[in-house]
Amino acid sequence: MNLPANAGVPGHLAVIMDGNGRWAAKRGRPRWMGHARGAQTAREVVAYCARLGVQHLTLYAFSSDNWKRPREEVGFLLDLFASHLDRQLTELCANGIRLSIIGRRDRLPATLVAKMEDAEARTAQGTRMHLRVAIDYSSKAALQQAFARVNAGDGEWPAEPLLPNVDLLLRTGGERRLSDFLLWECAYAELAFHEALFPDLTTAHLDAVFADFAGRDRRFGGLDSAPAPVGSA
Ligand code: IPE
Ligand code: IPE
Ligand code: MG
Repeated sequence: MNLPANAGVPGHLAVIMDGNGRWAAKRGRPRWMGHARGAQTAREVVAYCARLGVQHLTLYAFSSDNWKRPREEVGFLLDLFASHLDRQLTELCANGIRLSIIGRRDRLPATLVAKMEDAEARTAQGTRMHLRVAIDYSSKAALQQAFARVNAGDGEWPAEPLLPNVDLLLRTGGERRLSDFLLWECAYAELAFHEALFPDLTTAHLDAVFADFAGRDRRFGGLDSAPAPVGSA
């Protein structure tokens, strides 16, 4: 089913999927259970956003600072990405969703990188929604890399941002910070901080977040409400 882009829905939604560990702790369960449940929620969020006509969805799954966590938790998360890539590939292809992974690859297990590359190649023709999953991602590192490319080249800064401009940034789990996510791309993003722990996030919560977004007055430095500028998702 190909639904038209919905006017009230952000062209580019970015989600900091936070609160998995607290979700598990509240139930007296180990943190990995929260991550496993969070991965299911991520799958539902992807399907729902594609249905609503979101064109770009970027999910923060593992930050470069998350390497500081215990080795067992990091290992579990990397295994979880690999198994979800395997399980969701058919669904992504069937739904016309293009998958890209953003972030560093050189510190990830070679088997995971191979799966990522395979999934990217097999979904490359998807035009309905572009899903980006950030793994070993640091926005500051991405910017440093971009600056280095500019310095090594002709000194021209490319006209486009690193990714499409973010229209709406949602962070679950109640914290109100960016944690090194899409600092450049969020220059004019609307910010939404939701108390729900990520595994508890429902489509009804998303509806409420989108309804709030639809009512915001985006002026981009001018005096009148303006549509998202050209080049924005
Ligand atoms: C987000 O949930 C997932 C990752 C950062 C990998 P957390 O693991 O940060 O959960 P909390 O914030 O400790 O509850
Ligand atoms: C941000 O969450 C990273 C992801 C959701 C992947 P964190 O839980 O790592 O962020 P801080 O430590 O609370 O800032
Ligand atoms: Mg957290």
